[in-house]
Amino acid sequence: MEVVIKETYEEMSLLAAQLIADVIRRNPRAAIGLATGSTPLGTYRELIGMHRDEELDFSQVISFNLDEYVGLPIDNEQSYHYFMWENLFKHINVTPANVHIPDGLADDLKEACDSYEIEIDDHGGIDVQLLGIGSNGHIAFNEPGSSLGSRTRIKTLTEKTRQDNARFFNSIDEVPKYCVTMGIGTILESRKLVLLANGENKAEAIQATLEGPITVSVPASAIQFHPDVTVIVDRAAASKLTREYHTEPSRFNFQ
Ligand code: F6R
Repeated sequence: MEVVIKETYEEMSLLAAQLIADVIRRNPRAAIGLATGSTPLGTYRELIGMHRDEELDFSQVISFNLDEYVGLPIDNEQSYHYFMWENLFKHINVTPANVHIPDGLADDLKEACDSYEIEIDDHGGIDVQLLGIGSNGHIAFNEPGSSLGSRTRIKTLTEKTRQDNARFFNSIDEVPKYCVTMGIGTILESRKLVLLANGENKAEAIQATLEGPITVSVPASAIQFHPDVTVIVDRAAASKLTREYHTEPSRFNFQ
């Protein structure tokens, strides 16, 4: 696992975008796994800039999002479908048919979850998966207690996550109670993971993820099992780390 500490959110975002762009340039048909929330917004801005100024081509890229709320129409501004089109897809030349986001409105949610897994497999797996982390250590919506071998499925959001996400809604009562999320087992099968965290409120979760034991109490700690992980954090999110880390990625990460 490679841990890179950047001074600012902007530097963190640029490095994450460079890692993703590098995968796409090497394989224009790469399957990229995407996250929502505040953390990846800077990365998406950088990728949009690379598309505009450096001809980074998304036309053949396949995307798979980590999660979606259950029951929110896709034109609801808080749905992750809406988020992805607003903050990334409408600004790049992605092919709409290549975009995959879990379906939180399916009549048969279990069947939709199983199909999502099959679609990922049919595309040969995910080449690089971008991840944020919850202040409680969740990745995607795999809340503490989630099985480390879990697959895409329906989950109940914890009160902590509903409170954290209430800032995007008018009130906490509007925050959905359920979601559809890739499992930890699904995430660990991606060929490369890039986990991002910024801000003081992520410092504890980052310390537990990187320096604590692998435990279902901190779902993100499962990334310690993965052979190719880059964790990029800003100074504030790194503030509780105790070991020595780098400020630049190893040159072997870029080809
Ligand atoms: C969203 C997701 C979540 C977020 C996490 C952090 O697709 O996978 O795990 O990454 O809740 O959210 P922010 O970035 O808003 O702090």
